[in-house]
Formats: sequence, structure tokens, C-alpha cells
Amino acid sequence: MEVTHYPKYTLYALLILGSWLLTFVLHFRSFHLYFGSGAFGFLPFSVNSTFSAHAIAAGGDPPQPSSSSSSSSSSSSSSSSSSSYSSLFFFVFVVRRADRYSRCFHMTNAGIGPELNSSDESGILPATGWYNTNQYALEVIFHNRMRLYECLTSDPSAATAVYVPFYPAMEIHSHMCGFNSSVRNGGPLDFLRWLSSQPTWAPLGGRDHFLVASKTSWVFRAVGGHELRCGNSFLEQPESRNMTVLTYETNIWVDNRWDFAVPYPSYFHPSSASEVAAWQARLRVAGPRPWLFAFAGARRANGTLVIRDRIFDACDASPARRCGLLNCRRGCGSTQKLVALFASASFCLQPPGDSFMRRSSVDAVLAGCIPVFFREASTFEKQYIWHDPDPDRRHPYYVLIDHDDVVAGKVGIEETLAKYSDDEVVAMREEVIRMIPRFVYKDPRVKFHGDMKDGFDIAMDAILERMRRIKNGEDVGWKGDDEEGSLPSNSNDDGS
Ligand SMILES: *[C@@H]1O[C@H](CO)[C@@H](O)[C@H](O)[C@H]1NC(C)=O
Ligand SMILES: *[C@@H]1O[C@H](CO)[C@@H](O)[C@H](O)[C@H]1NC(C)=O
Ligand SMILES: *[C@@H]1O[C@H](CO)[C@@H](O)[C@H](O)[C@H]1NC(C)=O
Ligand SMILES: *[C@@H]1O[C@H](CO)[C@@H](O)[C@H](O)[C@H]1NC(C)=O
Ligand SMILES: *[C@@H]1O[C@H](CO)[C@@H](O)[C@H](O)[C@H]1NC(C)=O
Repeated sequence: MEVTHYPKYTLYALLILGSWLLTFVLHFRSFHLYFGSGAFGFLPFSVNSTFSAHAIAAGGDPPQPSSSSSSSSSSSSSSSSSSSYSSLFFFVFVVRRADRYSRCFHMTNAGIGPELNSSDESGILPATGWYNTNQYALEVIFHNRMRLYECLTSDPSAATAVYVPFYPAMEIHSHMCGFNSSVRNGGPLDFLRWLSSQPTWAPLGGRDHFLVASKTSWVFRAVGGHELRCGNSFLEQPESRNMTVLTYETNIWVDNRWDFAVPYPSYFHPSSASEVAAWQARLRVAGPRPWLFAFAGARRANGTLVIRDRIFDACDASPARRCGLLNCRRGCGSTQKLVALFASASFCLQPPGDSFMRRSSVDAVLAGCIPVFFREASTFEKQYIWHDPDPDRRHPYYVLIDHDDVVAGKVGIEETLAKYSDDEVVAMREEVIRMIPRFVYKDPRVKFHGDMKDGFDIAMDAILERMRRIKNGEDVGWKGDDEEGSLPSNSNDDGS
């Protein structure tokens, strides 16, 4: 094992009982303030939670939120994380009004949502491991995974990175649009000011801090402009520019990034490697897929998203009914239906919607369905620079059809896809199936059985690597507060 002069793989999860609690209580109150009826709130739960890091370092049972946690038999196998860490508490999401914010309901089971019932409908899903996961739940899932992370320390000076358990997407959800700038920005900005006043911040100006913001980058980059526009400027603040932020979609056209795209959480949250292998095996043997291509989504009003109209037209015109369509005009129906559709199609169309990335493209991977993109900015290659690369990849695994050509009617979707031979399709599908482990998030409540890196593990490896380089004084494409970058320009960030 390589020995280096910085503390290895250790991580400091920000300890914030006092003032952060206050921040959140304030937020909680501000939800009420801005909404009157109060949609939902963050409640600090189990403020006592003091976990034994011994148990964690030894890979033992998941930490119990109990003040009397016994560190009985576990030996201190790792000196770097032998001290106990305390007050890494988490939240319960309290549903106040299930109608409008029913998504809160999905925050059960440590973020992965209610378990899906395989006994109904198609019977496509295995009995365990599948959940009705909300697409915005990654902040919660990530936080809960962090609680089980092997090497946490209570000594910030020993830490390679500092995880900030703040949920920017959750925070903005209820006042995303139609509110003035102080409403949209107030909470996060207060939080950032507070964060940067903490002792952990000072040594590197927060450059070893990271957090998850489970919406697209654009939501947090709304600066200036109209008073009542959507989103906030969370990612454009000097403090967040120093941090590393995980989002669902990044700006691929700039070099100096501080937010990195990670896959949306889909429905499969395995607790063992064999569960994943069994699902992969099932996809492999499923036999020929009846649909050439499938799409789950909705048209947009008045031709505001022409590509969608083209897809619906292509489906209608498909002669031998080679297209499977799930019209999501009023929601896509059951998850089972969606998975069953994607698992019976060779190609799954992923046109951009409000943004370039869609959760649907991760759903496609999980169903062994070859994703078809229409914009380069939607491809995993451009967005998921940590999760996409696979040294063992032998074949291309996706199709890129030019958006403008489709819209202009120059290229037919069905004709393009029909050109792939059966062998090619099988080879591409195999690549997709092999990607599945990297595009799932393990069940965050239990210790995983078996050896497998999931989306979280890959993101953490990349973050720690980035932090090591930052601590080494390397240029990771970081750009300081002054806009006119004075740093060397040849930054080849993150090994992409
Ligand atoms: C929290 O800690 C206090 C004092 O240590 C104890 O009396 C109380 O029962 C604990 N509460 C919970 C929920 O564990
Ligand atoms: C699954 O469906 C069965 C029969 O409809 C029901 O009894 C059971 O409670 C359901 N389980 C879950 C987790 O929803
Ligand atoms: C913003 O809106 C809130 C509530 O909607 C209001 O209390 C506040 O005065 C407004 N601020 C500005 C600067 O207009
Ligand atoms: C960002 O980091 C730089 C370099 O460490 C530091 O000089 C600057 O003060 C930091 N910005 C903030 C807002 O802390
Ligand atoms: C679509 O067009 C109809 C009729 O022209 C109009 O009433 C409606 O507001 C339009 N909707 C949008 C979203 O533009």
C-alpha cells in the first residue's frame, strides 16, 4: 500500500450541532414564513447520534444512533479513523402536505423511497432491491452512505476532505420559481457565510469541502436578471466556487469546473454484489426484445420541444409497431411498467427536456437498454467523466443522433436504429449491462456484501483524488474569486 504524507482516505464529516442546527431551524421557519402552510421541513433527528467509529473502521454493523454505542469487540484496525465521530446527524423529512410535496414521501428508507412490490403487474422486478426512488433524492442517499463510510474522523486536520451535509436542492425546492431573489438566495447564502466561518474552512479556504446538490448545475447559477426568475446563485458564490459540488448535470463547455455530474439515482439499490449479478444475468438471458426503441416521456405544449414531437411521430409512423411508448403526460405510471418497457426495447430514446440529462437514461442502463442521445451534452461521456470511463470497454454502447437533423426531418430515428445488426445490438447491450454497477447506488442502510464499486464509491474515489491534488498544491482547474483567471491555463482537470 502506498504511503503518502497526507492522511490517507480520511474524511471529516462536518460537525455542526450548534450553529448549523440553528441554520436549519431557521430554514424550517422560513419555509413556514414563505409558504404560510409550510410544505415540509427538515427536522434534526436524533441529535444524540454518537457513533462508534471503531465499528465503522472494522467494517462492522451500521452505526446505531445510540449514545451508549458499545465498541465492544471491534479492534481499532485503522489508526486514522480510530477516534469516534459525533454529531453527524441526519434528518427526517416531515410530510406536512402530502399532495403538493408528495415527493417527501419518497424520502423514506434513508432516501431510496418505499420498496417496490414485485407481486403486481409485470412481475419484472426481483423481490428485493427495488425502490420507488425520487429522482432528486441523491442528497439524502449520499448523506446516508457517508454515515457508513469506512474512514471518518473527528479530527479535521487529519481529513483529506470535508463532507458538508447541506441539501441545496431540497432547500430550493419549495421556492424555486416566482419568488424574489432574497427568498431564493437567502437561506443558502446565510449557510455559506456560516460555513466559511467554521474552523475547518480556514486552512484551504474550503477547497477541501464537498457537497451534493441534486439538481442540474443551471438551477444554482441563476445570477442577476429578472427578479422573479427561477433558481438561485448558490453555485456562483465565492464559497461554493472553492468547493467541489456534485450535481446532476454540469456545464460541459467550460474547463474550470467546480461542479461535477454524477448519475441520477434510479430504482435499484442492491445490498449485495450477487443481487446485481443476478439482475445482469436476467437481462442477458431475456431473449429478443420486442421493441426496437422505446420512449417514456411527454410531448410539450405548442411545439416547444420539437424533438419530442418528432419522437411521438416516429412512434406513430413505425410500421410494424417497433416502438414502445409510455406517455407520461400525467406521470409515467408504475415503475414496473417503465422497467418492463425499457427491458423489452433494444434502444431507449433520451431527448433533452428542460435540461440535457434525464434520469431516464440511467433507468435505461439499469434495464440493459442502449441509450440514444440527441445532444452531445446529454452523453455520459461528456457529463459523467467519473462514471463513464471503463478501461475494459470493447464496443460503443450508445447512439448519438443529431438533434437538428431529426428536427429538420433529415434523419429518421427508426431508420437510423434499424441499421444496427443484431450482433451489434447484442454487443452494445452487453456493454450497457456491464455498466450497471457503476450506475446504481447501493442500499444506504446496510453494509454491502461483496466487492463492487457503485456510483457513490466512484464519486468518492474521484473526490478524494481531487482533494489530494488540491492539498498537493496541484492545479485542478480551480479558479479563484477573481473572474479573470490568473491561473495557468493548461489544467487537465480530473483525468478526463
Ligand atoms: C440523549 O442524551 C441524553 C443525555 O445523554 C439522554 O438522556 C437521552 O435519553 C438521549 N436521547 C436519545 C433520543 O437518545
Ligand atoms: C405488496 O403487495 C401485496 C399484495 O397486494 C401486499 O399485501 C403487500 O403489502 C405489498 N407490499 C408492499 C411493500 O407494498
Ligand atoms: C421578497 O419576498 C418576501 C416574501 O414573499 C417579502 O417578505 C420580502 O420583503 C421581499 N423582498 C424584497 C427585497 O422584495
Ligand atoms: C477560496 O480559496 C482561496 C485559496 O485558498 C482563498 O484565498 C479564498 O479566500 C477562498 N474564498 C473564500 C470565500 O473563502
Ligand atoms: C398553447 O397554445 C394555446 C392556443 O394557441 C394557448 O392557449 C396556450 O396558452 C399555449 N400554451 C403554451 C404553453 O404556450
